[in-house]
Amino acid sequence: MSDSIAIRPAEFRDAEQVFGLIKAYPDELLGRPIGDIVQNIDRFLVAEQDGAIVGTVSWHVLPEIGAPRHPFVEIKSLAVARECQGQGLGRDLVNRAIQRVTPMHPARIIALTFTPPFFKAMGFVEVPKEQLMHKIYTGCMSCTKYDSPFTCPEVAMALDLPA
Ligand SMILES: CC(C)(COP(=O)(O)OP(=O)(O)OC[C@H]1O[C@@H](n2cnc3c(N)ncnc32)[C@H](O)[C@@H]1OP(=O)(O)O)[C@@H](O)C(=O)NCCC(=O)NCCS
Repeated sequence: MSDSIAIRPAEFRDAEQVFGLIKAYPDELLGRPIGDIVQNIDRFLVAEQDGAIVGTVSWHVLPEIGAPRHPFVEIKSLAVARECQGQGLGRDLVNRAIQRVTPMHPARIIALTFTPPFFKAMGFVEVPKEQLMHKIYTGCMSCTKYDSPFTCPEVAMALDLPA
């Protein structure tokens, strides 16, 4: 990753740029309303270069999967600006999100992705979507692209953390 790029927790002033970055990838990412981003800003990291937001990642706690003491956590809304891709920024963002979430001791960290090789490179392994039924149904209920989560090409991946 370039020395001129710094990863930091997001602030409210970043919300509009985060919105724009996520919106730039309509085929790969579920769009997020600006209100949702603002409301969850404490669950976003951003990568900043010369005052511009060139990367973002967020996480979402899923108490409906796992157990109350050890819920699953989903990594979502991962985006790197096109001009900054291929330099390790996506990896750094995911690693920083994992570092942020790990001390809370989630059962597993998961991702639903159209880019499984990227998450494989991060140590995630593919898991059957059936393992994430509740998440699949709540998330996929509002999908307008695919008839069923089981015909959707998105792949479920999970990272087990050391006990
Ligand atoms: C996916 C994305 C975040 C990757 O960001 P990036 O900064 O280009 O990725 P990195 O440079 O950190 O790559 C890390 C590793 O993943 C691999 N990788 C990255 N993008 C990949 C892709 N599209 N397909 C296969 N492998 C990929 C890299 O080769 C690298 O592997 P290596 O360390 O073994 O060389 C970026 O392409 C992006 O924002 N895409 C659009 C939005 C998107 O798809 N988000 C993810 C949806 S869950």
